[in-house]
Amino acid sequence: MHVLVVGSYNQDHVWRIDRFPQPGETRRGLGFTTGPGGKGFNQAVASARQGAPTAFIGALGEDALARTARELAATEGIAARWQACPDVSTGSCGILVDANGQNQIVLDLAANEYLTATFVRAQSDLFATARVVLVQMETGMGAIRAALTSASAGCLRVLNPAPVHAEWDASLLADADLITPNETEFAELLARCADTHIAAEAIAALGDEELHALCRRLGDISLIVTLGARGCFVSHADPAPWQDPASCYRLAAERVQVCDTTGAGDAFNGALAAELARQPRRALREALLQAGRVAALSTERAGAALAMPTRAQVQQRFG
Ligand code: RIB
Repeated sequence: MHVLVVGSYNQDHVWRIDRFPQPGETRRGLGFTTGPGGKGFNQAVASARQGAPTAFIGALGEDALARTARELAATEGIAARWQACPDVSTGSCGILVDANGQNQIVLDLAANEYLTATFVRAQSDLFATARVVLVQMETGMGAIRAALTSASAGCLRVLNPAPVHAEWDASLLADADLITPNETEFAELLARCADTHIAAEAIAALGDEELHALCRRLGDISLIVTLGARGCFVSHADPAPWQDPASCYRLAAERVQVCDTTGAGDAFNGALAAELARQPRRALREALLQAGRVAALSTERAGAALAMPTRAQVQQRFG
């Protein structure tokens, strides 16, 4: 197994809408769809569709949605280990997608919250062979810690702090090799870990040195701050292990016809994990270029898990 994802599975209920409603306003939707999602599962599908042997650890209720999840994982070739949680429903989300493809999400973690550290640690055979362990924050904190601390020596631990957990504590940073927040999550980490307050919307416009200095406030870790249509920013305490020539740099995003940005960050993280697992000695920058293409292409399709492009589709589109 090359990539092991520990995280959430949700059923996404998606309404297209011309613009987001104001508080107290009722707006008419422009169409409804439902499909598989959850940051964890989306990232596992993104990784698997990039050709990396991928495993997933998650939790499900005992309901019809759980059956669909199990079937879907099998169809995608993902080696899934599910903790079955009785008397709880499978996770679900309400998502609004506006005419610009931007989204607003309401999440009921449900079974995801009951994924236990014990269940995660019990999947030791998966941790023993994983080259990359990838974790988000849509589960209980015990499961997140267990995933990061169960990784074997030499395994790359990637923490995508999405969304930043209510019980976040800064010691988690020491358990990961790479942190991948988006602008909102980065601003929240700065506030919580470094008592530094900056508006998320202001981050992409900062100069490289300024942004690098902010990243360094989080400690001696490597960060990739994803900036949506403005690409991503990389900041290292030490660039050498990543074969990066510079301590910080920015990569532009591919230009695409955006239909739905839901899951774009998941596409990026899953594809990055797949790239780093495939060629561990490859320069980070090369892996990021591929991850950026996967993320960009995912936004041209509606949906989350099922919008992840295959490696062949990415190659066909971007060469
Ligand atoms: O990142 C997108 C995902 O966030 C959706 O699929 C939804 O399930 C939420 O977890």
